Amino acid sequence: MRKKMAAGNWKMNGTAGDLGEIDALMSSHSDPSVDILICPPATLISPMKTRIGDGAIHVGGQDCHIEQSGAHTGDISAGMLADAGASHVIVGHSECRADHGESNDDVRAKARAVWDQGLTAIICVGETLEQREASNTLDIIIGQLAGSIPDNATGHNLVVAYEPVWAIGTGKIPTLDQIGEVHDFIRARLERRFGSGVGRSVRLLYGGSVKPSNAAEIFDVSNVDGALVGGASLKSSDFSPIIAALEASL
Ligand code: PGA
Repeated sequence: MRKKMAAGNWKMNGTAGDLGEIDALMSSHSDPSVDILICPPATLISPMKTRIGDGAIHVGGQDCHIEQSGAHTGDISAGMLADAGASHVIVGHSECRADHGESNDDVRAKARAVWDQGLTAIICVGETLEQREASNTLDIIIGQLAGSIPDNATGHNLVVAYEPVWAIGTGKIPTLDQIGEVHDFIRARLERRFGSGVGRSVRLLYGGSVKPSNAAEIFDVSNVDGALVGGASLKSSDFSPIIAALEASL
């Protein structure tokens, strides 16, 4: 059985004054039956981890460099994220692919750097609106999965997030059938490449405008093992009901 996961991506939001959001999550989900992960800006990973202490919430990074150290001003390595307390790192988010011109090869190298530190990579894939309208969604997903995921994936070191670019931060979500189609497809591709045991053990998250009002129906879709949540993860009053919807789907 795959353990469900509610992952929050704070993006470039949050300063020390926002760490209190974690307290409310910890008190409402002290013994969660799902994995809860918050990926704050890198500046908050260490203080968030300190605040969580023995609590059940995991902390992750949002991106990393392909190297572990060196002359790369402004960048952060997977080893530094691990040192700060991260257990997971998002790689290949569409905002990084777009803002930094990241290719599938770059994303694959980042995922390897994450694995080299013993952390879990959350690899993001998803089509643009133009690609969906041209009926190219599944072809794009094939290319991103093949190009972005290194060999030797396991259910422990890999989580895949399907995030249609046009659904991120827009309030628009695909139909439930469209989400199910892509998630079933990703599952089949993972099984084909890594074998059915590994392919079935990798968790698949849906991301893009998940909120308390649509979470339960999304969590009912086949092969959706949780969500990667942006805007609605910033406030515990939004993220907590999403976590509760995931727990209720078990
Ligand atoms: P959103 O972002 O929930 O604000 O749409 C999701 C994401 O980019 O991971």
